[in-house]
Amino acid sequence: VKPRRPTIGVFDSGMGGLTVLGALVRLVPEADYLYFGDTARLPYGSKSAETVARYASGAARYLQQRGAELLVIACNTASALALDKIAASLSVPVLGVIEPGADRAATCTRSGKVVVIGTEATISSHAYQRALAQRGLEAREKACPLFVPLVEEGWTDHPITEQVARIYLDEAFQTGGADVMVLGCTHYPLLKTVLRRVVRPDVKIVDSAESTAEAVRQRLHLQPWTPSSPGAERRTHPRFTFFVTDSVEKFRRLGERFLGFAVEDARLVDLEQEAIAVR
Ligand code: DGL
Repeated sequence: VKPRRPTIGVFDSGMGGLTVLGALVRLVPEADYLYFGDTARLPYGSKSAETVARYASGAARYLQQRGAELLVIACNTASALALDKIAASLSVPVLGVIEPGADRAATCTRSGKVVVIGTEATISSHAYQRALAQRGLEAREKACPLFVPLVEEGWTDHPITEQVARIYLDEAFQTGGADVMVLGCTHYPLLKTVLRRVVRPDVKIVDSAESTAEAVRQRLHLQPWTPSSPGAERRTHPRFTFFVTDSVEKFRRLGERFLGFAVEDARLVDLEQEAIAVR
């Protein structure tokens, strides 16, 4: 019997969440994916909790209507500020990126001290600090608001980015003792090379995109996936549909950098029109 493929919805404020989708595809290739990037309203990282909750809940409901059976809130800002509100507006299970990132940090640290970097909104919500404190860990949180625009400019390995990273991280690691750094933003996995150069070699970097993909795999009760699993060939080709609220052309052009392969089936969505149609 052909195993039924689950449909996973992935929500982000824009294209950064494609790093989470990329990790999902590597770890959970036996699913199909619906991705929603709210590109017309990004960035979320500088917005209030109320606004983020309203935007993200609308988009998440859209993914549910389209058939998502499990929803991943790839956006760290939306996970930090509005996960409960989003979950309350849906009937399918919802997973954010904060808890999986905190779990991984807990398994990696020896000193019990963790640095978390993210957008202004994620950091001032202290969602990571709370999640880490629940695991007995101490967090030093640092907002790095210049990283998102630098990544979107394509300056992922640029001297300016390295300089900016040094300023942020010198401050973050100033108090000493942290041996793990959590990348608490969708865009930061693209900065891994630069960040690796800037932090001490003994500091482990936790990529919340990867931790989340692993949490999804566990949630679906799937066995660890290897290319030689029975039926692996058939299962290696997930279907993707991308929904965006602004230029499809721009999303496709920039998306490949985040995802690692070409964005094909991308469609423009007007959530206000959708809401009117539903009424
Ligand atoms: N997706 C956001 C996050 O992970 C970064 C981009 C934004 O601010 O919208 O926090």
